[in-house]
Amino acid sequence: MSPIPHSRTGRQRLFEPYRMGPLELPNRLVMAPLTRMRADNAQHAPTGLLAEHYAQRAGAGLIVAEATAISPDGFGWAGSPGLWSAEQVAGWRQVTDAVHAAGGRIIAQLWHLGSISHPDLLRGRTPLSASAVNPLQESVTAAGRVPTVVPRAMTRAEIRQTVADYATAARNAHDAGFDGVEILAAYLYLIAQFLNRSTNLRTDEYGGSVENRARLLLEVVESVAEAVGPERTGVKMGPMHETGPFEANDETLPVSEYAVSRLNDYGLSHLLMMGGTRDLTGTPLDALAGDGMFRHFRRLYGGTLIANVDFDVARANALIASGDADLIAFGRPFIANPDLPARLAAGAPLAEIDWETVYGSGARGYSDYPALEAVTQGAS
Ligand SMILES: Cc1cc2nc3c(=O)[nH]c(=O)nc-3n(C[C@H](O)[C@H](O)[C@H](O)COP(=O)(O)O)c2cc1C
Repeated sequence: MSPIPHSRTGRQRLFEPYRMGPLELPNRLVMAPLTRMRADNAQHAPTGLLAEHYAQRAGAGLIVAEATAISPDGFGWAGSPGLWSAEQVAGWRQVTDAVHAAGGRIIAQLWHLGSISHPDLLRGRTPLSASAVNPLQESVTAAGRVPTVVPRAMTRAEIRQTVADYATAARNAHDAGFDGVEILAAYLYLIAQFLNRSTNLRTDEYGGSVENRARLLLEVVESVAEAVGPERTGVKMGPMHETGPFEANDETLPVSEYAVSRLNDYGLSHLLMMGGTRDLTGTPLDALAGDGMFRHFRRLYGGTLIANVDFDVARANALIASGDADLIAFGRPFIANPDLPARLAAGAPLAEIDWETVYGSGARGYSDYPALEAVTQGAS
């Protein structure tokens, strides 16, 4: 790789090393988790194709692998992988070995979809959630997108089992050679269904007050941190404005503030936060538009903060320089640019995504995007 140029206007903070817990990251550019539906086999196990794809992207300071179901109950997206069986652990071992051999670092993202799953993905069982509230979204089944159904409210025994399943999946991630894990508590999935007042109507200690709705998240954090160490446990979360019962309400921000503040107690590896993905004007999240999200939560969280959504190099350098984030995650740009860090460092043009093949099957549009070197050699 060519030496990293310094911009005329200042230091390229994005390309400076960073120590995250036990991991030495050679740069501050994180590959964001991207579901690509290539574990489309009956075992939901990663294959050599995933190993090739991730190894091509090992130039990232850190890779957060695609969301991965912690248990058969937590599964709920066609073609997505799991981390509960021996076949899955063996499949992931191929991936982590390939990434490490290519000089990279990779962590697993732990996923329970709750009511976003569908009976067609659960051998006919009804999906589980905090309460029997249809999230009014779409489930991604093998036959395509279908409307979500009314889930079944989890019993306390099922909640206990789920917390234990997160720890088991984290241990499996460790056994599969991952450098750490990230708990997916963002978006519309199980943990968010507990946090959200509109989908959590429980009257036990997991519902009602903000503290009670955050209880599942904190129990999961505790059990995963105990399983693999807090310094190898991170969380992706933050307030979002989505559709249906996930439209931001006057408690969306307070519950996130409470939960994020509590995360300080555990000495975790990181917090990954998305900036707004929709226009937040006029919503209860109005003040969090743009970098407002990171400025706001930086004051509440003392650990490593990874900022995400729609970054370019200039904005990334500026946000790191301002101290409002430590690392920057890039998602979509990694799809068509396996060597994204090298391209960004060189100021080279980025390849365009073929959206037809993003959620596809096989190598096309997945592991066949060339690195820049190959493109320029091919052209000369
Ligand atoms: C195809 C695709 C798949 C995604 N899969 C996941 C996922 O598995 N887990 C997750 O937390 N976010 C997922 N996301 C969100 C990305 O991690 C990231 O937050 C988003 O793309 C915004 O970052 P960007 O502007 O750099 O693309 C996905 C996004 C896309 C486009």
